[in-house]
Amino acid sequence: MLVAGIRRWGGAVERFETADPRALRDGEVLIEVRAAGVGHWDDIVRTGEWDPGRCPPLALGVEAAGVVRAIGAGVERWSAGDEVTTHPLPLVDQGTWAPWLIARGEMLARKPAGVSWSRAGAFAVPALTAIQVLDEALRVGPGETLLVNGGGSVTGGLLVSLAGLRGARAIATAGPASRDRVARIGAESVLDYHDDNWPRDVVELTAGRGVDAAANVAPGGASQALAAVRDGGRLATITSDPPGPARGIRVHSVYVRPDGPQLELACNALAAGQLPFMIGARFPLAEARAALARAVAGSGGAVVLELG
Ligand SMILES: NC(=O)c1ccc[n+]([C@@H]2O[C@H](COP(=O)([O-])OP(=O)(O)OC[C@H]3O[C@@H](n4cnc5c(N)ncnc54)[C@H](OP(=O)(O)O)[C@@H]3O)[C@@H](O)[C@H]2O)c1
Repeated sequence: MLVAGIRRWGGAVERFETADPRALRDGEVLIEVRAAGVGHWDDIVRTGEWDPGRCPPLALGVEAAGVVRAIGAGVERWSAGDEVTTHPLPLVDQGTWAPWLIARGEMLARKPAGVSWSRAGAFAVPALTAIQVLDEALRVGPGETLLVNGGGSVTGGLLVSLAGLRGARAIATAGPASRDRVARIGAESVLDYHDDNWPRDVVELTAGRGVDAAANVAPGGASQALAAVRDGGRLATITSDPPGPARGIRVHSVYVRPDGPQLELACNALAAGQLPFMIGARFPLAEARAALARAVAGSGGAVVLELG
């Protein structure tokens, strides 16, 4: 099959032929891919800094949506024809930038009929990340105050919205272009991250105390976010920049974990209109290199490869 990926760690994204999908093993499902997400994290896989479980030559891509075409022994929940979405790590064969994907059955979530292929294909990584930050690392509860540093990003927008669903108050940073959108999805205050004094302004907004918890989604932004957290509070960062311990604040460095049931709950919330999730750019598989460049540049919504 013709895939988009790398022939060696650090190589440029290319199109090349790989073997067709092998026979399914117990617990595996064969998916005909309709859409696959592209994120900054795919460049981290490309350079060899995030191990997806397989070595090049390798189709890149760690999230997809598509149609189940065959099931292996021991798979009970899924049948041929089911529409699903997944973050299928560790990869058991090739990545998702390919016409066919083999994935473990427990990593699939049902795609709601009202969610398009493109949205479903690019949703798994940001959605699982946001939920795991909010509910597992930070355990944000009703009445608490959450800072989202990077509220203008795809993952940051989901965090702002989820905070509201959990009964928490969200304060976010965003640039001028995203400010109104971040306010609309529920941030009580939106501060421009280009002003270096924003952590002090967050502290002022919380009557001098600091927020209960902070989620950092901005590369290199965790230390600044820490300055806005109250003594004994919590901070989670998803950009591999955890600051050292300070003032009794618990610091978590979060890496997304595959979880089919958790993804299915998130898909249902998306279908119900409870979560913001915008596609910013669509590319055919043949333009995967340009899609990755767009995702790394990181502006204006999720990036997706559409496979028809
Ligand atoms: N650890 C994990 O498992 C995991 C999972 C998912 C993502 N990530 C990482 O999380 C980061 C965000 O991913 P994403 O896909 O959600 O990003 P994205 O949608 O591409 O976010 C880009 C946006 O972030 C905002 N931004 C840029 N620099 C900022 C800064 N210094 N402070 C605040 N906001 C800033 C900008 O928005 P505005 O200027 O318009 O406000 C920019 O348009 C990436 O580094 C990604 O690799 C990690």
